[in-house]
Amino acid sequence: MKVSPILAGGIGVVIGAGLALLARPTTAPPPMPLPEPALVEAQVFAPPRAADAPAGPWGDAVRLGERIIMETGTAAAAHVGNDLACRNCHLDAGSKAGAAPLWAAFPNFPAYRTKNDAINSFQKRAQDCFLYSMNGVPPALGSDTLNAIEAYAAYMAKGLPLGESPAGRSFPAIEAPPLPFDAGRGAEVYAENCAACHGEEGAGQVLGDMVYPPLWGARSYNWGAGMATINKAAAFIRANMPQGMENSLSVQQAWDVAAFIDSQHRPQDPRFKGSVAATRKAHHDNEFSRYGLEVAGRKLGDPDQSPPFGASAGR
Ligand code: HEC
Ligand code: HEC
Repeated sequence: MKVSPILAGGIGVVIGAGLALLARPTTAPPPMPLPEPALVEAQVFAPPRAADAPAGPWGDAVRLGERIIMETGTAAAAHVGNDLACRNCHLDAGSKAGAAPLWAAFPNFPAYRTKNDAINSFQKRAQDCFLYSMNGVPPALGSDTLNAIEAYAAYMAKGLPLGESPAGRSFPAIEAPPLPFDAGRGAEVYAENCAACHGEEGAGQVLGDMVYPPLWGARSYNWGAGMATINKAAAFIRANMPQGMENSLSVQQAWDVAAFIDSQHRPQDPRFKGSVAATRKAHHDNEFSRYGLEVAGRKLGDPDQSPPFGASAGR
């Protein structure tokens, strides 16, 4: 919950005026009573549910889209090269505000992206998550799979204005860490807060009916993924993890554990340019990527030590 800046400013003005009045001697009128500090909830859009989509081909596509987000490894098996599903990052079947919900993305495409220096349609944007986050070979533009994902996003977005980012898009911004982020401290945060679900080696696990997705290694997202950058991972983790205790980590802990996770081996960047150094220069030359750096004596992204990119990785 946030106090609206307008109200907060108003309260400040009234308090200031009140103090000034107190300092004055007699006849001034009594200070106005302070307004109740109204707490204003951010208005977050509530998308319709795929189950309520109409009967017929359109509703069928919407429901298929939801199923692909939930069960990507079976519903779009040919395009997935790891053990993740879209829903593992786009939580609640791509509907959760603050977990890059698909309804918030849809009205903002086509969009220019620096990542590929091109105008991206919604389907092109989804292809990139297949390529990097899912470590797979993306479905073709206009394929039944991408049409269904787009139909699902469009259905959920009904009524939102075009070309505006609604509240809840992406991940909530995270403040800069008080101390520079540190993977060593992050290892402790991980052991205490994450390993029980995601496994000591980050490989994920199946416990009863629950599937805890892998955070690193051959079956996780590859080096090209947004989640492989420490700033994006920190923002996601702070708002969405540990599952059931969201927002319980401090800002520092979220950055540190993100640095720890993103200092591990994972599948090669599909944009590999023949050498780790060239790939770092082209795609990772910033403080938030550990690709190409030595961590604990191992060079991250080294083809000799990294699982290869793509569906053949692992298993
Ligand atoms: C490992 C985590 C992960 C997985 C798995 C994943 N994504 Fe993403 N996705 C991200 C991140 C991170 C972003 C960028 C969010 C941002 O920049 O704020 C993103 C962004 C998107 C966007 C654009 C959102 C926006 O608001 O612009 C779409 C669309 C999308 N993903 C679709 C998919 C689809 C479809 C799948 C499954 C095929 C998928 N993603 C799987 C992490 C993931
Ligand atoms: C109670 C179990 C639990 C705990 C504890 C937990 N997670 Fe998760 N995490 C999950 C589940 C389940 C998902 C997938 C959510 C879904 O599919 O709805 C997930 C998804 C993720 C993802 C995105 C998917 C992927 O595999 O990359 C990341 C990153 C992540 N968790 C990081 C963390 C970190 C860091 C911590 C500790 C601070 C943590 N989690 C603690 C259960 C947990």
